[in-house]
Amino acid sequence: MASKMTSSTDSGTLCWSAPSNIALIKYWGKRPVQLPGNASLSLTLEKSRTRVEAAWQKHSEPLPKLDFFFEDKAMPAFSAKVEKWLISISDELPFLKNLKLTFKTSNTFPHSAGIASSASSMAAMALVIGDLAKSHGFENFSESIWLEKVSHLARLGSGSAARSLYPHAATWGEESQEYGSGVKELHPVYLNYGDAILVVDSKEKSVSSSEGHALMNEHPYRQLRFSMANQRVKDLLQLMQKDDFESFASLVELEALELHALMMTSNPSFILMKPATLAIIEQIRKARSLGAEVCFTLDAGPNIHLLYPNRARAQAIKLVESIKAQGLLDNNQWIDDCVGTGPRKEA
Ligand code: PMV
Repeated sequence: MASKMTSSTDSGTLCWSAPSNIALIKYWGKRPVQLPGNASLSLTLEKSRTRVEAAWQKHSEPLPKLDFFFEDKAMPAFSAKVEKWLISISDELPFLKNLKLTFKTSNTFPHSAGIASSASSMAAMALVIGDLAKSHGFENFSESIWLEKVSHLARLGSGSAARSLYPHAATWGEESQEYGSGVKELHPVYLNYGDAILVVDSKEKSVSSSEGHALMNEHPYRQLRFSMANQRVKDLLQLMQKDDFESFASLVELEALELHALMMTSNPSFILMKPATLAIIEQIRKARSLGAEVCFTLDAGPNIHLLYPNRARAQAIKLVESIKAQGLLDNNQWIDDCVGTGPRKEA
């Protein structure tokens, strides 16, 4: 499909890319419908992105139809999920009912790296739909609140996607539960923070995020966790107005380990960290005790996000090389990512 944008009243093409994000304060546990149990805060990544080339055509059927391809391969199961999302938002955006859409998606990161792409892909697809809503004259998709509207659509597909629409850092559940918001007061040190994503295990996780969220419904620490995480978002927002590496590192690491502690204390309990995850955590903490400005966070999986202010890049890369040389990474894979400026409309 040509990525050049075209459109007429009956058909057209357009292309967006959106980045992944890494939560510093985690969304873990939901309230109906697809609302977060607690506020969360993330850094927006730059290099780990999903690109969606979309084509649309009017049709005379009563519901939206979708053909979905990932790296040129049809993905019937995921396509059905995305089509369900399109149907669910078509009462809000009735023009979708008369559209047949084709989405051709690709990731900039290897799909064998075990990096979740639901945030970047749902955000990119929501941008396409938001763009179409604007061009179909939907007034509530006007310029001033467009990103909020798109974030709301993205959230209905995948909660963490609500945060992938904003540059540098975003919250969800702080200003609004319905959509994410960009963090406005950020110290410049965070504008190019480094994130070396260390791939410890690229296999599919034994427990999916959806199953993990569901286990929070009856979790004995549910209410305590939600109120502590809400407070942590406020604390971290304050902290990120300053350049205070030590306080940032201790809050972010505590939060990552708490996410995994919640998994270990769920019923049934599960553990997603691997021995290499712990070995790398120890080495990051050792390097920090020797003066390197490096710290870690974890997603719902075994991989490590090694975070560092850009001034500490040489120390961070030296540590990554040493971790790699010890054979602790799956296939020696890591992604040299950093904080970025958010989604892009692609030519
Ligand atoms: O957006 P989901 O449903 O895939 O959940 C994401 C959960 C975490 O990645 C563990 C935390 C977060 O806030 O991104």
